[in-house]
Amino acid sequence: MDVPAVPAHSEAVLHVSGLRKSYGGLEALRGVDLDVGAGEVVALLGPNGAGKTTLISIVCGLRRADAGTVEVDGLDALARTAQVRGRIGLAAQDTGVYPVVSVRHNLTLFGQLAGLERRALRTRIEEVAQALDITDLLDRLAGSLSGGQKRRVHTAIALLHRPRLLLLDEATTGADVETRARILDLVRRTAAEGSAVLYSTHYLAEVESLGSRVVILDRGRVIADGDARELVAAHAVPVVELSFAGDVPPALWDGRIGEDGRRIRIPTRDPAATLAELLPQIAGQQLTSVEILHPSLEAVYLALTGRRYDEADSEPTRENVSGVAAT
Ligand SMILES: Nc1ncnc2c1ncn2[C@@H]1O[C@H](COP(=O)(O)OP(=O)(O)O)[C@@H](O)[C@H]1O
Ligand SMILES: [Mg+2]
Repeated sequence: MDVPAVPAHSEAVLHVSGLRKSYGGLEALRGVDLDVGAGEVVALLGPNGAGKTTLISIVCGLRRADAGTVEVDGLDALARTAQVRGRIGLAAQDTGVYPVVSVRHNLTLFGQLAGLERRALRTRIEEVAQALDITDLLDRLAGSLSGGQKRRVHTAIALLHRPRLLLLDEATTGADVETRARILDLVRRTAAEGSAVLYSTHYLAEVESLGSRVVILDRGRVIADGDARELVAAHAVPVVELSFAGDVPPALWDGRIGEDGRRIRIPTRDPAATLAELLPQIAGQQLTSVEILHPSLEAVYLALTGRRYDEADSEPTRENVSGVAAT
């Protein structure tokens, strides 16, 4: 499978090479290579179970790798965890704020832990609060906030010490529209100020709107790395998808991709012509849907894995079950 080469960065803040990690017999990372340059946003995209959290956790020293290297600003992040940690801002997948104190108190605690001096910290809290639109919440008890508000505070904490490398793990999962927009905006701005941002998400549409470089992780492997539009142009053609109430008519199988006995997918440069061609074979059948899937990251994923993204769970141990199902 062709994976486009990683663009060369004059200044790679994060450099990951050959990273492997197993949990017992389950291979969560199977040799991951990844670079994020200064001023760059990389959207780390992958379905649940792809290995995103494992990768991010290893980069910041929360989990151990079995093999491979991680460098942050040229420093060995696997050996010099403590030294590297100060350069990293992490908003982990599960939000963590202390519920019984105010938002400001939370930010102060984490800022002090990051080594910020009192006066600088006070100014910085105002800045990050403004960036995430939580100024009005600073004196509220953190435990009284909504999920989206907590998500913003959690993200603000990761930014306090102006990290060289910002790691956001599913920062927008379950977030409201406003929070999502704020966070995406912040991702762009943080990169514009010169930091490297690795932003994990399982939402395809979000990555498309971000318009950044995208690395697609699937079952512990990088299956695509490049500019989102270029990936689409390189890998994806439209797909006609036909679903039937009963079994797909045998005449339609004929060497085509099918997910199960009731649905068939036909990659084609000309969906209308393909549909016209198939009409005689479809006539009289109980069709439940006809869909044209236009080239998008979804189609890139389908082309590279044989599975639809929104149906994928990415358990690495499971055999790939794509291909024509037996009827
Ligand atoms: N602590 C753990 N123990 C055992 N298996 C784990 C553990 N953490 C993650 N896994 C497994 O490793 C794979 C990758 O998980 P994860 O890195 O959380 O993926 P993602 O963040 O992309 O959803 C999954 O199959 C998950 O079930
Ligand atoms: Mg995760």
